[in-house]
Amino acid sequence: MSGELSPIDKAKFVAARRAAELVEDGMRVGLGTGSTAAWLVRCLGEMVREDGLKFRGVPTSARTAELAREVGIEVISLDEARWLDLTIDGADEFDAELNLIKGGGGALLQEKIVATASDQMIVIADAAKEVDTLGAFPLPVEVIPFGWQTTQVLIEETLVAMDVMGRKAGLRMNGTRPFITDEGNHILDLHLGRIGNARQLAMVLNQIPGVVENGLFIDICDVLVIGHGDGRVEMRDINTGTVQEDRLDFFESDNLFRDPGD
Ligand code: A5P
Repeated sequence: MSGELSPIDKAKFVAARRAAELVEDGMRVGLGTGSTAAWLVRCLGEMVREDGLKFRGVPTSARTAELAREVGIEVISLDEARWLDLTIDGADEFDAELNLIKGGGGALLQEKIVATASDQMIVIADAAKEVDTLGAFPLPVEVIPFGWQTTQVLIEETLVAMDVMGRKAGLRMNGTRPFITDEGNHILDLHLGRIGNARQLAMVLNQIPGVVENGLFIDICDVLVIGHGDGRVEMRDINTGTVQEDRLDFFESDNLFRDPGD
């Protein structure tokens, strides 16, 4: 990578590196998707190559699988692993109860399946992702392509009865074509502004025919690792109610900073 890392990238990196330290020999680990998770995969790859760490990773997207293999991580499928010791993934928003919006990268379905099949989900994020109330980030909803416009209307009608500020749903595009997920589905991004009752909304959305899954992760995250641009890292554990603070030193001459992927 050329040039200096931005404060946001430094924050993502230190969160990822701190979380990577929680991976132990013999573990089966879910590997998230997105730019913060890409740092994690690179950190873990370095630990495999340089420290002899032995673990198996279950990627949550084709692009994470490719990066994991590239950096030397042993990749297995969820069906091979069956159950995971932990999953480490990014988030688009998190609140004080560690509820999340995910799916900005379009991988929410595999991410939710993998996180749910784990003893523990650890979320890594920069401090800018913290919100009082979820919803400023558009909520991704994965829908099957068949009749997606009807599904969109049903979603918008359902939102009338929900405690949200906006209710416009937009089809995610990839250039001039609809975005296609790893499962061959589309994504509708819901511009809600504020979600008053995220638990209720998550359940109601999944009742609509055509909806495969939504990007609200409620009661799934156990530990949140928040990175700051100056190297500070805060680790919040929702189960023990503890908060730990650390500072990580890093050097931009490190191999990790070359070609960081997505
Ligand atoms: C991928 O589908 C998402 O859930 C990501 O985990 C989320 O968008 C966070 O991405 P960044 O780490 O790139 O911000």
